[in-house]
Amino acid sequence: MRGIILSGGAGTRLRPLTKITSKQLLPVYNKPMIYYPLNTLLKAGIKEILIIVAPERAGDYLNLLGSGSRFGVKFTYEIQDEPKGLPEAFIIGENFIDRENITMILGDNIFEDDFSADIKNFKSGGKIFVKKVSDPERSGVVKFDQRMKALEIVEKPKKWISDYAIVGLYIYDHRVVEIAKNLKLSDRGELEIIDLHNWYLAKAELEVAMVNGDWLDAGTFDSLLEAQNLAKQKLQEKLII
Ligand code: DAU
Repeated sequence: MRGIILSGGAGTRLRPLTKITSKQLLPVYNKPMIYYPLNTLLKAGIKEILIIVAPERAGDYLNLLGSGSRFGVKFTYEIQDEPKGLPEAFIIGENFIDRENITMILGDNIFEDDFSADIKNFKSGGKIFVKKVSDPERSGVVKFDQRMKALEIVEKPKKWISDYAIVGLYIYDHRVVEIAKNLKLSDRGELEIIDLHNWYLAKAELEVAMVNGDWLDAGTFDSLLEAQNLAKQKLQEKLII
């Protein structure tokens, strides 16, 4: 299993803070934001991690994280020239992924949960994780039956279909690279991650699992503040970095 931390994007919702550096390097209590998703991958024993960043922030990441030897792992860096959608990470990461399974985590997603067992036991197909939320219109959303079989997946639904948001941690086999290469741009001009989920769903190879504990996408001022409190109150003793 290899890992990707997707940490590009313009961070427009957090301006002027993101005029200084990348959103995913902003402080979350006593650590840069990216330490939390990095911690999630390291805890699961992933040793090779690709960090995808925006061109103008690449130096900041190198300064902070370096080769990875300090954490006992190897970092590879790639530039995403423009934020063209989450699946582009798998196209950029084609050589890095090679024939391995891949766990991708978003650089602004902060989890209390431990995904080690899911990551270590993953064999093939796709696996996504969901969390009940009060504002499903802000996320990718999945409707599923009592056996957690996905029935419908929609990105930021205008019409309610479910209260279960798809969080920003995804496990796929290496086929994801070819699938991503064949995706078409959506109406908003991006490659859409739910199109990958739907590909695996159509093949009956998509597994859906529940996230335990808190989950935050720290991409707005309010959720960044919540993340700071979560980090201070609950996450410190769970961090290995
Ligand atoms: O947080 C979970 C949600 O993440 C999922 O429920 C959605 O299905 C998924 O589309 C995504 O929604 P967001 O609205 O949070 O996506 P956003 O465009 O904000 O991108 C998420 C992070 O990924 C953000 O920190 C910036 C980074 N990013 C985004 C894009 C589109 C990149 O590095 N490159 C990109 O091309």
